[in-house]
Amino acid sequence: MFRIGIIGCGNMGEALIKGFIEKGGVRSTDIIVSDIDPERVKQIVNRYNVAGTESNRKVVDLSQLIILAVKPKDIENTLEPLKDLFDEGKIVVSVLAGVKIERIKNILGKDIPVVRVMPNTPAVIGEGAVGISFDPVIDQEKRKEIKDLFSSVGLAIVVEESLMDAVTGLSGSGPAYVFTFIDALAQGGVKCGLSYREALDLAVQTVLGSAMLIKETGEHPSVLRDRVTSPGGTTIYGLHELEKGSLRDTVINAVESATKRSKELSE
Ligand SMILES: NC(=O)c1ccc[n+]([C@@H]2O[C@H](COP(=O)([O-])OP(=O)(O)OC[C@H]3O[C@@H](n4cnc5c(N)ncnc54)[C@H](OP(=O)(O)O)[C@@H]3O)[C@@H](O)[C@H]2O)c1
Repeated sequence: MFRIGIIGCGNMGEALIKGFIEKGGVRSTDIIVSDIDPERVKQIVNRYNVAGTESNRKVVDLSQLIILAVKPKDIENTLEPLKDLFDEGKIVVSVLAGVKIERIKNILGKDIPVVRVMPNTPAVIGEGAVGISFDPVIDQEKRKEIKDLFSSVGLAIVVEESLMDAVTGLSGSGPAYVFTFIDALAQGGVKCGLSYREALDLAVQTVLGSAMLIKETGEHPSVLRDRVTSPGGTTIYGLHELEKGSLRDTVINAVESATKRSKELSE
């Protein structure tokens, strides 16, 4: 019996396997994976020394925690042929964006415990931000085990399922907002004479260092901002331009709009 089965070994499936083994203390012998593409299974088996199969049925049959990492459009044709294998003691974990716990239970046609997880792309390097919603039937011990497991690909927080769209709008889509900001910062440097390479290196390190400073000091961002904003200095001139461009208003609207879109897509 394997502890963890993973169905779908694409970007996210592989990120989870890597995180679980390298940071989560899971033994490769405790993991079995499957994918529709046999070549992909071979690659993953060779890379991580896990057990691999082309049969999703074998994965469900032989594991306790079954992680679904296929695309949302493939949920029905993946789960439908497996539903007879889900019995007491098994837990389904879905990383599928926008797919509600209730929908998975409906496809399975029985009351199997389901966990919904929303990671983001930095999870592929172990620096993700992960939202987790638990089916109320799952006990505290199992909740802790699952939260610890997903903490191996980044920061994991538990939220009510009704807030999963907000998690999607903030941390799910968030890397794209940050990439855009970093690129704009670098373009600003280019406008002022730096090469794009120099400017990008400075922009990336500035965002990384600032985020780390908030994380390590625990200080409110506005306190750290005020500390670098001297009267009549360069920073207040730059900040004034950001205010004129309504940066904060725009970012708040971006999160709200992406949250609404996530709701629409999961209806
Ligand atoms: N990537 C992210 O950053 C991210 C973030 C948050 C959530 N997610 C969620 O993670 C899930 C996977 O995303 P991804 O980016 O990893 O997608 P992906 O790279 O396309 O991986 C999905 C894998 O599942 C395989 N597959 C398709 N149908 C299957 C089936 N019936 N049985 C077994 N394997 C099957 C696919 O093979 P084929 O390519 O041959 O179809 C592919 O190898 C999605 O639901 C997404 O919403 C991803």
